[in-house]
Amino acid sequence: MSDPATPDRPTAAGMYDYYLGGTANTPADRAAAEQVVQIMPEIGDAAWANRGFLQRAVRWLAAEAGVRQFLDLGAGLPTQRNTHEVVADVVRDGRVVYVDIDPAVVARGNRLLAGTRGTTVIEGDVRKPDQILDHPQTRQLIDFTAPVGVLIVAVLHFVPDADDPWGLVARFLDAVPSGSHLALTHGSADHWSERIRDAVFTIYADTPTPPTDRSKTEIEWFFAGLEIVSPYPGGPAGLTFAGVWGAEDPAAADSDGNRLFYAAVARKP
Ligand SMILES: C[S@@+](CC[C@H](N)C(=O)[O-])C[C@H]1O[C@@H](n2cnc3c(N)ncnc32)[C@H](O)[C@@H]1O
Repeated sequence: MSDPATPDRPTAAGMYDYYLGGTANTPADRAAAEQVVQIMPEIGDAAWANRGFLQRAVRWLAAEAGVRQFLDLGAGLPTQRNTHEVVADVVRDGRVVYVDIDPAVVARGNRLLAGTRGTTVIEGDVRKPDQILDHPQTRQLIDFTAPVGVLIVAVLHFVPDADDPWGLVARFLDAVPSGSHLALTHGSADHWSERIRDAVFTIYADTPTPPTDRSKTEIEWFFAGLEIVSPYPGGPAGLTFAGVWGAEDPAAADSDGNRLFYAAVARKP
């Protein structure tokens, strides 16, 4: 990770919010995100495919897998329909711990979610799982003897190999019981030219969380020891693209932007 956040630097959270049409972004976020849009016009489509995955996966976990409590790691700015709102559509007693490394995300989240029952927002770094798992607010909301939905959506490409992201995911899954689930997406340039990838990564290099590109195989390793669920009726249990997961019409959902993020939901046996 490079230098810390300052108001004049773009952030991954603010740029993502801009792609989604949100208002929680700064002039620096907008300027950097606009440069990305110029190079990769499909980025807005990609962001929506990813955000849609998060919402469909959370709904599925609450409605079909019986998960009532969620750790939303790298949650981003409370922006377009958040995890607790999706859960509340399905169950009344859902609990969500939002975690983000960006203090601006946490401050905004605390303002917006103040008084919302069953939710909390904490500052945390996925590279320090124990600080998140042992945080008093986590311990207050999450019962670690019951299944937990561990959401790590569009986050791990901001964690370099040197921090062992595979070991980090395993640590979070070790802390939760059988029947818990992992929902994960990860950006990948498998379907983009090297030229576009390098140009986009150069822009993101200015943020406090520069990205790392990973292949499908490297992303599959995050699910070691877990049972990947079928992404849609009749679909093979394995990684798919974010927009396709849970789509009513997978063929129609398979746009170019959709292919920027691999996605899967998996159960801990
Ligand atoms: C692209 S946004 C994804 C937001 C949300 N998970 C979603 O998919 O809609 C990535 C988020 O990860 C956060 N992030 C990056 N590195 C992180 C880390 N090491 N620990 C926690 N959060 C991190 C960023 O601040 C940002 O809010």
